[in-house]
Amino acid sequence: MTISQRYQELIADLRQIIEKHNNVVLASSLGVEDMLLTHVIQTEQLPIGIFTLDTGRLPEATHRLLSRIKDHYHLTIKVYVPQAPDLESLIEQQGTNGFYNSVDARKACCRIRKVLPLARALQGQDAWLTGLRREQSQTRLQLEKSAWDSDHNLIKYNPLLDWSRDEVWQFVRENHVLYNALHDQGYPSIGCEPCTRAVLEGESERSGRWWWEHPETKECGLHVAQS
Ligand code: ADX
Ligand code: SF4
Repeated sequence: MTISQRYQELIADLRQIIEKHNNVVLASSLGVEDMLLTHVIQTEQLPIGIFTLDTGRLPEATHRLLSRIKDHYHLTIKVYVPQAPDLESLIEQQGTNGFYNSVDARKACCRIRKVLPLARALQGQDAWLTGLRREQSQTRLQLEKSAWDSDHNLIKYNPLLDWSRDEVWQFVRENHVLYNALHDQGYPSIGCEPCTRAVLEGESERSGRWWWEHPETKECGLHVAQS
């Protein structure tokens, strides 16, 4: 499939989604896939809201991108942050960087900093979009382009599911999509600063995320049914 065909298919999918549902939102990590979707939403003037979960541990480059989006695309991204009492009890229990100590401690941190804020962000929405792609990891191979999200009681769409990394970057370069400066410094996938590192050429794209864990545990809970 050519990039132009991919694009046509994406627009058709997004139009179908907004015809079907009233309140549609994109969950944006401000990673390259989400920036591609943001670009398309803005260019095609689609009535899709955009939010991001600011965990409080994001890299400075991600914050810089967030400020640039406002001027560049003239749209506001709604920012959700963790609840202060949740953070205080997390830090009391495991310390500031307790997530390095065990998979459970790491998941507890992701839960308070991302999963609970996600639930607030999805309240009152009828459908949500993500930038997930199948080839990102072994945990994502079995995903579908749409699925009922029983944790949040709404439909979840993954419109870029079949795009390859090269296709994403071809589109981004050809269309001058704004993106996080860290992508040019060896970071194919960007999450929280203490849990993300650069990868070497040829390493898998999510190998820099929670690099001290085994590949099969590497999901933060945003995309794994909790129920
Ligand atoms: S993660 O779940 O392991 O962090 P990844 O960084 O690959 O996931 O992002 C996959 C998709 O999850 C993104 O395209 C986006 O839809 C959603 N997502 C991840 N992190 C965030 C975030 N901080 N805020 C909003 N959405 C996010
Ligand atoms: Fe906490 Fe790391 Fe998860 Fe961010 S990625 S919420 S810092 S464990």
